Amino acid sequence: MTSQVMFDAGKGPAGSPIVAGLPMPEFRRIGVEPISGACGCEISGVDLREPLDDQVLAEIMKAFEHFLVILFRDQKLTPEQHKAFSRHFGDITELPQAPTYDGHRDMQEVRREAHEPENVVPSFEHFHTDSPFLLRPPKCIVMRALEVPQWGGDTAFSNAYLVYEHMSDGLKALLDGLQVVYSGKDIWAKNEKLAPEKRLRLRESHDFTEDQLESIHPAVRVHPETGRKALFATTAYFKRFVGWSEEESRALLAYLQSLAQHLHYHCRVKWRKDTLIVWDNRFTLHRGIHDFKYERRHLIRTTVVGERPLGPADIAKS
Ligand SMILES: [Fe+2]
Repeated sequence: MTSQVMFDAGKGPAGSPIVAGLPMPEFRRIGVEPISGACGCEISGVDLREPLDDQVLAEIMKAFEHFLVILFRDQKLTPEQHKAFSRHFGDITELPQAPTYDGHRDMQEVRREAHEPENVVPSFEHFHTDSPFLLRPPKCIVMRALEVPQWGGDTAFSNAYLVYEHMSDGLKALLDGLQVVYSGKDIWAKNEKLAPEKRLRLRESHDFTEDQLESIHPAVRVHPETGRKALFATTAYFKRFVGWSEEESRALLAYLQSLAQHLHYHCRVKWRKDTLIVWDNRFTLHRGIHDFKYERRHLIRTTVVGERPLGPADIAKS
């Protein structure tokens, strides 16, 4: 006898609409409005300057895990309030390469001045994850807008679970066995070679050792609690797949990078002053969209430390 699952129109087996690849969770204490079918939600009814009770915090975490990108409007936070909210997600950390914000070693800034051309940030004009060269790359980024263009300058995200889940079984099997070498060792030297107007704004000094700027991670990342798998191979800081030549590696990576471009994996956030977003840097890819001119864009952020990425082989062992 075959079992039969009943579906309502537009709903999954549990009776909930499917969004971000899974049934929509229930929220009682916060307002949650999905941004797209693929990822991202806007949360309302929360003032991040105030202490958050356990239930509200648990729902924010549920929204973060489900939607991977959570957005709050009109959050006028001091740097200390920004850091305090960030610590609900884990320990915050310095980064070796990203410029710091206003004397806070544990905050970074993303800034393009009104006179600077769009090409001042060329290497991040594609989908990427932040700082994958670290042994424990960031779990998430908490970013707040201080000043943004009137139109344009959005940030786009691609759901890396969905990218992986839509691959063929053959490609999944290939990637499940691959590891990636990521390195941030040469970004300062590479930057020096660029024309001054094309250089990235990098941090000038840091206390990280050379060894801390290079790591090997699985190409498919597994969520430590749910076991859900996502693509974890992107171009920023990418060197090669372990056991593959650089030429072979680049060819496969170019194909994987093209998959993340598909619009049906995306959401796109329009910033306003005092918009705050938290994005999952383990299971999404992101990129800023520099489609504006002659306006200033200034975002500040904290970076929350993640776990050492687990791959399918690590899960099989445990
Ligand atoms: Fe980034």
